[in-house]
Amino acid sequence: MKRITVIGAGNVGATCVNEIARRHLAEEVVVVDLNEGASKGKALDMWQTAPIQGFSTRIVGAGNDYSLTADSGVVVITAGLPRKPGMSRDDLIGTNAKIMQSVVEQVMRHSSNPIIVVVTNPLDVMTYAAYLASGLPHQRVFGMAGVLDTARYKAFIATELGVSPRDVSAMLMGGHGDTMVPLPRYTAVSGVPVRELMAEDTLQAIIARTKVGGGEIVNLMGTSAWYAPGAAAAEMVEAIVRNERRVLPVCAMLQGEYGMRNLHLGVPAILGENGVECVLELHLDEGEQQLLCASAQAVKSVMCTLDGMDLFPQKMGALPL
Ligand code: NAI
Ligand code: 2OP
Repeated sequence: MKRITVIGAGNVGATCVNEIARRHLAEEVVVVDLNEGASKGKALDMWQTAPIQGFSTRIVGAGNDYSLTADSGVVVITAGLPRKPGMSRDDLIGTNAKIMQSVVEQVMRHSSNPIIVVVTNPLDVMTYAAYLASGLPHQRVFGMAGVLDTARYKAFIATELGVSPRDVSAMLMGGHGDTMVPLPRYTAVSGVPVRELMAEDTLQAIIARTKVGGGEIVNLMGTSAWYAPGAAAAEMVEAIVRNERRVLPVCAMLQGEYGMRNLHLGVPAILGENGVECVLELHLDEGEQQLLCASAQAVKSVMCTLDGMDLFPQKMGALPL
């Protein structure tokens, strides 16, 4: 791919740029930030790792000059405020929705048909905002959360069992918040169902810890995580750029899948060169479906808050699921 843009040169954005370059995913990766010094300085610093890391991907700090993002194939949006201790992801909506609107409008002025990967919180509703602001088909605008949340879930399982995290596979659905739905029935270690390997109460403790995994790090560091989030976003970019058709949890717009529509929610999807190639419908049992519906309702209520801000003419929050 010729050009990938990352908006936001903060903790997550810079980490994502670094991963994109190290994975050789484009000829050039452009990093935009209102903070010109951070964008240009971090880009220069990362570019100076190229001789050490052995990559050729040019890293360009653009400041706030979107003309340098022209014709980007993929745009990752990390611009916005992160959580501080005591804040939920939803507390960020007022500020981050306006940032999302202005960023997406500027992206679209210079790239006619990009794929947009949203990272900014509250993730599911910022993905909805980016979709409304872009006018792109829904398959080209989606969010990163499940790749991070499953990575946390898999890491906790690997620690508990003393096995390599590479051998843990898992699926997780729902919104990026405390209502997320890790799915033990779809969790295995090299094909062995996780319930054959650990006691139910241990597994439930891991699920509970996964749900508040972001908050655990906020409490430790005073701001939210960036290494795993940046790597997770780059993993999605790689699936797109290399047309890998990876099966990943993606915050995608639902159009009847799981009996729901008119919202963006974490679901298993195939990611490829066209973005979300297909949403996979698992055969959820009654309990799993109930948890997913509760998570969807939580996302819907934040969508209504966004709708109430009157930033976009189209409003989907009050539409039935
Ligand atoms: P940060 O504060 O380190 O970086 C944010 C950057 O955005 C700053 O450099 C700031 O100058 C820039 N920015 C703000 N407004 C802008 C605008 N209008 N145009 C261009 N740049 C602008 O924050 P961090 O830790 O990188 O987090 C970024 C976002 O990602 C937050 O909303 C955070 O909650 C979210 N996040 C989402 C995760 C997920 O799983 N989806 C995981 C981790 C963080
Ligand atoms: C995280 O899960 C705060 O969404 C951010 O780390």
